Amino acid sequence: MLDSWLDNFLSNKDLYPNRTGQGSVAAGEPSFGGRYDYNEEKDINTKNIGLGWLYYSFARLYKPKIAVMIGLGRGFLPILIAKGMKDNDIDCKAYFIDPSLDDDFWKDTQKTKEWFNSFDVGNIIQHYLFTTQEFVNTDVYKGIDSIDLLCIDASHFYEFVKFDWGAFKDKLLENALILFHDTISRSKNPKWSGPRKVLLEILKDMELQSFDFKFGAGLTIVQKKYFEIKQEYIDKLENEWQDKDDSTF
Ligand SMILES: C[S@@+](CC[C@H](N)C(=O)[O-])C[C@H]1O[C@@H](n2cnc3c(N)ncnc32)[C@H](O)[C@@H]1O
Repeated sequence: MLDSWLDNFLSNKDLYPNRTGQGSVAAGEPSFGGRYDYNEEKDINTKNIGLGWLYYSFARLYKPKIAVMIGLGRGFLPILIAKGMKDNDIDCKAYFIDPSLDDDFWKDTQKTKEWFNSFDVGNIIQHYLFTTQEFVNTDVYKGIDSIDLLCIDASHFYEFVKFDWGAFKDKLLENALILFHDTISRSKNPKWSGPRKVLLEILKDMELQSFDFKFGAGLTIVQKKYFEIKQEYIDKLENEWQDKDDSTF
């Protein structure tokens, strides 16, 4: 990622990491997603984009061809993922779903285009000005499959997070990476615990594994378990491996 790109990104106050709980500050009390006692100035001066580093890196590592992102805010997470996808220089497409409920920011198609173009990601992003509930009734939704990156950061109410997950879980590729934001702290208001509540439910599926990043408002990554972590796999290796020499290492 170019230094000048980051300078441009951070020249927009709306994209400061702390704004949507993406800062490099411990999640949980007493800071609740970086809202208090957080030295934002220091992070900005040192160009620390907090969880943003992960978003960009996930895109570079996993090289998604089809990404679906729900909840734009001002685009902190989606722009960084899209930038990673763009830098991969492979055929790819990113579907952004957001009805612009917070304000009118995404309502003007031309302005939206210009906003994404200003971060050099306009050509891979397609924005849909819909709630997920509306989007599932579109032909575009029906045509989407083989998702390899899914990011859920829209409404934090349980019913909505559950809907977002339900709408896309069966369209995921086997090796897909799923990102849930706001999974640790945001406020003591129990209505905001939707992402964690949904996670607790879906992780009952023993085929899934997760990892919490305890920064900002919390990020949890989920993926299907790989066979390597199963005991049977290790047993199989033990049985198959002929060279039992344990003098090395
Ligand atoms: C917390 S912000 C997303 C922050 C963003 N991911 C970021 O990194 O800055 C939540 C967004 O979810 C959107 N939203 C709320 N309810 C939604 C729904 N039912 N379907 C899709 N998007 C929704 C809002 O319009 C708002 O932009």
